[in-house]
This record gives sequence, C-alpha cells and structure tokens, in this order.
Amino acid sequence: MSVGSLIAADLVIAVLAAAGWLGGGAAAAARRRPLALALAGFALLATVGRAVTVTALARAGWWFAAEKVLIAGPLSLAAVAVAVPRLLRAGDIRSVAVPLLFAGYAGSGALLVTVLHGYPASAGAGLLTVAGVLAATAVSWRVLGARPSGTVSRTAVAVAVGALVTGTGLAVAPAAAPAVTHDHRYEAAPEVGEPTRRFTLTAGTATVRVSGRDVEAWAFNGQVPGPELTATVGDVLEVTLRNRDIGRGVTLHWHGYDVPNSQDGVPDVTQDAVLPGQEFVYRFRADQVGTYWYHTHSVSDVGVRKGLYGVLVVRPAPATGVDVTVPVHTLAGLPLPAPRTEPVGAGTPVRLRLINTDSTTHRYALAGTPFRVAAIDGSDLRGPTPLADTAVLIPAGGRYDLVFTAPATPVALFVDGRAVYSTGPVSAETGPWPVLDPLTYGVAAPVPWSRFDKEFPLVLDRGLDLHGLLPRYAHTVNGAADPDIPTQVVRRGDVVRFTIVNRSLVVHPWHLHGHHVLVLSRNGKPATGSPLWLDSFDVRPGDVWEVAFRADNPGTWANHCHNLPHADAGMMLHLTYS
Ligand code: C2O
Ligand code: CU
Repeated sequence: MSVGSLIAADLVIAVLAAAGWLGGGAAAAARRRPLALALAGFALLATVGRAVTVTALARAGWWFAAEKVLIAGPLSLAAVAVAVPRLLRAGDIRSVAVPLLFAGYAGSGALLVTVLHGYPASAGAGLLTVAGVLAATAVSWRVLGARPSGTVSRTAVAVAVGALVTGTGLAVAPAAAPAVTHDHRYEAAPEVGEPTRRFTLTAGTATVRVSGRDVEAWAFNGQVPGPELTATVGDVLEVTLRNRDIGRGVTLHWHGYDVPNSQDGVPDVTQDAVLPGQEFVYRFRADQVGTYWYHTHSVSDVGVRKGLYGVLVVRPAPATGVDVTVPVHTLAGLPLPAPRTEPVGAGTPVRLRLINTDSTTHRYALAGTPFRVAAIDGSDLRGPTPLADTAVLIPAGGRYDLVFTAPATPVALFVDGRAVYSTGPVSAETGPWPVLDPLTYGVAAPVPWSRFDKEFPLVLDRGLDLHGLLPRYAHTVNGAADPDIPTQVVRRGDVVRFTIVNRSLVVHPWHLHGHHVLVLSRNGKPATGSPLWLDSFDVRPGDVWEVAFRADNPGTWANHCHNLPHADAGMMLHLTYS
C-alpha cells in the first residue's frame, strides 16, 4: 500500500473507531445492551487496527505519525483502559455509558489533532485535547445523572482546567522565528546593459473567444495566453508592464527563470504591485536557454486562472526545424490552446515545448512517433533515450521539451486525451500508456555535493490557522500558514537541502523562486537518471522528496505550492540570504 493510501486508510479507521465508541455510549445510555456491545466491540477492533496503520506510517517517516503516536496513542490507550474492563463487568449497561463516551471523546479528540493540527505534534495541542475530552466527559456525567465520587470529579476538573490553561498558553505563544517582514526596502535592479529585445505587456480585462464562446478574462495585450516572448541566449530583455484596469494589481514573475531578485515580480517582496495606470520595467539578461513562462504574481490564484500568463522561450540560436510551444491552460472551464494541425515534412526536426500553466497536473501523450524528452523545466537532460507509447505527467508550472524527427506518417500530441497539436489525423488510445518517471530517465552524473550546509524540512499538510482575522482551514507548511511560516535563512554559497514531505491527501506542486533544485531522492530511493534540475515538481500524498541547491542568487525568494489556491490558502513561505 502506498503511503498516500495509508494516510487515507488511517483517517477512515480513526473516524470509525471514534464513531463506534460514541455510538456505543449512546446505545448504553439508552439501555440498548446488544447494540452497545456490538458498537463497542467494533470500536475496539478499529482501535487495534489503527495500531497497525500508525506503525506503518511511523515506519514511512516520523512526519507522518508524530501526533498519532504522541497524542492519539495515549488517548486510545486510555479509552480502551477505561471502557473495556467496565464493559466486561457491567451489570447495568447504562453504567458503562460514560466510559464509552469518554473513549469516543478521546478518539474524536485525537482525530481533531490530526485533522486540525498535524505535524509537528505540540504539547499545546495535546493538553487542549485532554482538556476537551475531560470537559465533554464531565458534561456527559451531569446529563446522564451518573454520580462519580467527589474525588474523581474534583481531580478531573483540576486536570481539565490545568490542561486548558497550559495548552492555550502554549498554543498562542508567538512562533520562534518571525516570517519575512514586508516593510523592507526593495533591492535595486542590477546594471544589465543596453536592451536588445523590447516588449510591452498591458494587462487589462478583455473578452476572449475560446472554443466558440466569449469568455471574460484578464489578458496581456488583449490575448490569452499573452504574447510569446522569445529571445536568443545573451539578449538583454526589457519588458514594460502596464496595468490598464486590473484593480487588484499585476506583476510579472518569470517562472523558472533565475533572474536577479529585484526582477522576480513578487508583490510586497521584490516590488509593489502595479496598479491601474502604473507601469514597471523589467530588465534582465537571457542567460538561461529553454522553455519558461511568465505570469502575474499579484493575487496570482485569480490572475493566472483568468489569463494573465504567457510563454518565454530562450533559444541557443534562431530556431531551426519546427519549434512549437504548447501552453496548456483552463480558462473558464474551457481547455486552451485550441487544437492545431499543420503538416510537417518527413525528416524535419520537431521540438514541442509543453507548458502546464494550470494549478493541477496534466497528462501529455505523443502518438505516432518515438521521441525523446530533451529538457525538463528548461534544463537539458543527459542522455535521454527514445520513448514510444509513453505519457508524461507535467506538474503545475512545469515544462517538458519533447523532440523527434517527423516521420512520413502523422503525429499527434494529446493532453488529457484531447488532441492539441498534430501533423495530420491520428487516432490513438493513449489512456493505458505507462507514464515516464523522470527520476529514472537518462544517464546519471555524480551529485556535485557531499555535504549540506543547511537542511530544511517542509512538511505539507492542512490545519486550522487562527492567526488571521478569521480562522481558516489552511494549507500548511510545518504546521503554520503564510505569513507565519518562519523564513528560511541561508548564506551565499551554502549548499541547501530540502526534505519535502506531503502528509495531506492532495498533490502539492512545489516551486522555489530564483533557483533550480537538483533532485536527490524520492521516497528513500535515490534518483538514478539524468541529473534533474527542476523548478516545479509534484509532491504526491505520502511522498518524501529530497532536493538540493547552491544558494547563489541573493535576495528574498518566494517558496510555495504552485497549486495557486493552495498558496493563497497559506502554503507559501520565503527563503532569504543573511
Ligand atoms: Cu509560477 Cu511564485 O510562481
Ligand atoms: Cu498545494
């Protein structure tokens, strides 16, 4: 069983156990003896079953099991210890109602810790849970008119109050390291020389035509995607961004392009958002060859979805053969780009630059020819071998360059089963094709570092965030949500390792600005293919990725999930240079 399904199974069993104890308690209170016994027996089984799932999770990594072992474990033991002996010697079934309810509250409390709090397990969360369980038990005592002895109830009240006070104190205590302050001065742009390529992008609301329908979009120069920006390596790009009428502001972020920090386009971190009537000029040298894209980073979850994105391609020399970009996007529920067919002469070299500008993964399948994956996220792969009838999964924000020599027969690229680019009619059933694992594709090279100066775990989950004006169910990193996730501080020259762990039930496409990370391992297995320098990679439920990079681009950089609604809901932090 994969760790992802184990996480889900454990959650289901925990719900069943808690429900079984609570139902047993209610049945006992109603003097329904057989029902109470059956439900309690079921709950006991589920509780024992959880010992198996929690042990398996702990073996997959402590991140997956910490609070289950430290908080749910003792609570479940207490539940069993209180409920079972009383059940065995009960004359009047009603007398075990409160013990069974106690077990139910303990199970529910443990479940809440996992669902609302997660990793790392904290003393505050543990104490608050104990207080809640005891308080709920005390209320049940009163309601059911059961009479505990004076000492028992006094002790329970004392423990509950003590736990409540200490737990609250620990829970609201300020975080150890503050997040990046947003009142710093922006860095000045470095000198890059006379621009050789100039573009102007004007952001504004626009009506665009998609699949025969008019769609209200936010567009650069009235089109979705925005104009394709192309350059040859060594060019100096100058891009003037104007905002006509996007009230929430716009910026340009060069996704995957490791520009100087001042040009990175993150509002409140590297610049102010460009408001209606304003402009901002970006200038940087095109030193990196490859396939990239640009998008607004101001309320990016809305802005990118509504159309403020486009392609950036830097070629080593003017294009030869057929060189096509395929930026895939979903605009108002409709798929982009529109399908395109163009005949290509046999023997022509073709490069398809696949770009995923959505917030979720897409599946791409090239039918009718063998091909190679020449580059991922702009970096050429080492020794890519020919593939046939193999699909690739591209994470949100990611890019794959596929290359092949056009055969005499037609070729077609399918995205999620839809033909998007073809050289003629092709019918192919690509659904059952296997998916390429980039970690085992191409020829390996030694990892350039043997030790790491800084290590950062990033444990991805969901949890209750009480720090804002309104409580929200956030997407969290190490138990905190933006802006309360401590900033990662590195020094120039450090070799930095991230261990990214997904404890949640959804995919998180991870994206660090300003750097490409080298994949070291996934789920304990070292990468054995070509070195993979990525800027966007899918961390699936239960996954543990180890990636590393050299800190060689000073500044303050966003580090976030590229499922942009997740980033907006808390899954965003910063990396800065001391
Ligand atoms: Cu493409 Cu911070 O994003
Ligand atoms: Cu995410």
